[in-house]
Amino acid sequence: ITMIMKTLFTNIKELIQIRENGEEKISGADMKILPSIKNAFLLVEDEVIVDYGAMADLGILEADHVEDCTGKIVLPAWCDSHTHLVYAGNREQEFVDRINGLSYEEIANRGGGILNSAKKLQETSEEDLYQQSKERLEAVMQMGTGAIEIKSGYGLTTEAELKMLRVIKRLNEEFPLPIKATFLGAHAFPPEYKEDQEAYIDVIINEMLPKVASEGLADFVDAFCETGYFSVAQTEGIMEAAQKYGLPSKIHVNQFTVIDGIEACVKHNALSVDHLEVLEDKDIEVLKNSSTMPVALPTCSYFISIPYTPTRKLMDAGLPLALATDYNPGTTPSGNMNFVVATACIKMKMTPEEAINAATLNGAYAMDLAKDYGSITKGKKANILVTKEIPSYYYLPYAFGDHLLEKVMIHGTFI
Ligand code: NIG
Ligand code: FE
Repeated sequence: ITMIMKTLFTNIKELIQIRENGEEKISGADMKILPSIKNAFLLVEDEVIVDYGAMADLGILEADHVEDCTGKIVLPAWCDSHTHLVYAGNREQEFVDRINGLSYEEIANRGGGILNSAKKLQETSEEDLYQQSKERLEAVMQMGTGAIEIKSGYGLTTEAELKMLRVIKRLNEEFPLPIKATFLGAHAFPPEYKEDQEAYIDVIINEMLPKVASEGLADFVDAFCETGYFSVAQTEGIMEAAQKYGLPSKIHVNQFTVIDGIEACVKHNALSVDHLEVLEDKDIEVLKNSSTMPVALPTCSYFISIPYTPTRKLMDAGLPLALATDYNPGTTPSGNMNFVVATACIKMKMTPEEAINAATLNGAYAMDLAKDYGSITKGKKANILVTKEIPSYYYLPYAFGDHLLEKVMIHGTFI
């Protein structure tokens, strides 16, 4: 006989983000709706959600653990589909340089930015890199992240990129939450390839990618498609090469300039297009009738003072939208998903319902995890947040600086 561990949440003030019909993403006007039950129960067996409903419908039930949620909101854990959480050291000097008037671009042109992080990472041992990254992962889990994507891209040599991806793999093995790995060799051109970009593209496609694929170190590929970084043609070459290894793409695009990258991403069936701070109407048209998820990163805009992604425009055009942190040392040194949700409401005029949909189910979709994560659905993994006693779920973005979570459950276990 196998023992089943039953956890019963009772008297939940409001159980939110309930999805019964296997929706894999939420689009347009539907994002305004956050299905919920007030005064609810939720039953978890081992690591799976098996039942929920109104307290009035809860029969007598024996559970190994009963969690009284009087006055508390229960929701699925955050799904953070875009991070660079594995990195070495920090870049607080660049932060101060920006305060004193330099732009992100000026700092990068002086050898700061991504190249600064790459230099630090190349000099850091794999063990040290793991330890630094592990602390960040533990911290974001405490803040309610229950599924996460992590990119390479601060290595920029075959050896250092593989080192980053091995660290991501080890995190995935040692932590209970699902971690998707994205190979971002095309994050910046290393200084030695400045005059011969195609030689670096060749290294990415013919040296790095085959190793990454044969060692099974990545789920996705990414490129920084941007003026001064990777052109649309170079990005397409990388997407096509990755497709041969079965790796779908998630692309950094339209952060600073519009160079028609979105069209190329859609053409190559990208899983997501991320950033989109600058968008033209034709980009929105291209995204319609595609399966590509637009991903906004509002705390990046907040931190480096660039425009916010016009998410209202995207949703009003009927598109879905995901929100993620972009946690990285240069443009977003924060992995706080509640702050992302708050910033989306405060700065992008997203409603709490839209922001929570974007940070849960649509985030799961953007890392191909929607089958098992991102909503309160029977059969999905029990990745669950229990808030402190709060007036309503509006309070999560409203009290943006507070830590409002009392408990975080990942795969049926409180962390
Ligand atoms: O998503 N835009 C490109 N990459 C990162 C930032 C890189 C860095 O400054 O370290 C981003 O914002
Ligand atoms: Fe990023």
